[in-house]
Amino acid sequence: MSYKVGIVGATGAVGQELIDLLHDREFPMESLTLLASSRSAGKTITRGDKTWTVAEVTPEAFDNLDIAIFSAGGGTSLALCLEAAKRGCVAIDNSSAFRMEADVPLVVPEINAEAMRGHKGIIANPNCSTAVALMGLYPLHEAFGLKRFFAATYQAASGAGASAMAELEAQMRAWAKGEEMVAEKFPHQLAVNLFPHVDKFLDNGYTKEEMKMLNECRKIMSLPGLRASTTCVRVPVLRAHSIAINAEFERPVDVAKAREAVAAFAGAEICDEPAENRYPMPIDFSGKEKCGVGRLRIDTAFDNGLSLWVVGDQLWKGAALNAVQIAEALVEMDAVAPA
Ligand code: A2P
Repeated sequence: MSYKVGIVGATGAVGQELIDLLHDREFPMESLTLLASSRSAGKTITRGDKTWTVAEVTPEAFDNLDIAIFSAGGGTSLALCLEAAKRGCVAIDNSSAFRMEADVPLVVPEINAEAMRGHKGIIANPNCSTAVALMGLYPLHEAFGLKRFFAATYQAASGAGASAMAELEAQMRAWAKGEEMVAEKFPHQLAVNLFPHVDKFLDNGYTKEEMKMLNECRKIMSLPGLRASTTCVRVPVLRAHSIAINAEFERPVDVAKAREAVAAFAGAEICDEPAENRYPMPIDFSGKEKCGVGRLRIDTAFDNGLSLWVVGDQLWKGAALNAVQIAEALVEMDAVAPA
């Protein structure tokens, strides 16, 4: 069995990775349709000996698709995911538009693929920092029972899209030449700087991004009582996010057992030899399927606490890879068609 697959936002940073990952992972595709805004209609995209012409996304585009992966912003998802589902095409949505809807599964396949059974045609892909953090937190939760955590993120420019990555690169070049740096995509200069501001500020003083970490972790791990407090920081890194986590558990913790639990988990690998200066870094975990977990240690502030550092490719586990893994899990569960 093979499927007619569409990518909405195919010209974007995540869309481009989706094209590669679907091919590299040999997703069973009968056809691949590349969709974006009217600005890109008619552009061509080439990989090896294959060339596609990008089309403007319209509701009718979904009539002839089985699976559409959306990565074109919340507005496009709100306007078109339901259209896709109505037309019998399952929408895997990278935006935050539907993540907290009760009848929309929010899925990290290594954790809760089963939540997709009986889906109604929309599957939500989690926030990038949440997905990466869970690659360290979830195996530890399984081992010790997660109670609460604090996190600080170090988020790459890629989370804000291809133009944001280009802006950071341009600023770095300008800085090296002593020229003026232009900040349009971000609220401030990002090169040789950072700012504790990702997504919009809310009335409670947190940003939307920070609240996603709490709310999405609760939903994905089915832990409605989980408590968490996060500070999200944009750093001058191109494409992998890093997250420092201090977590408290129900049961007594042990570093050796924690390492075993992480090492046995499909989405993560241990990278933790501090004496050798080995710990996960964005340059080593860009373009890598597994997220890196390191700096595992007994937390000095919590009882039954562990501190850890998780790094993962924002464009992959934080977006495109997780979306393709969702599609793969749907195929494996024979659940591509909405219930
Ligand atoms: P386009 O290139 O035509 O603007 P990124 O996250 O890297 O900024 O990419 C965003 C992606 O979402 C691009 O592929 C972009 O297409 C697409 N996109 C943005 N707005 C819309 C829209 N209103 N309708 C369809 N696609 C959109």
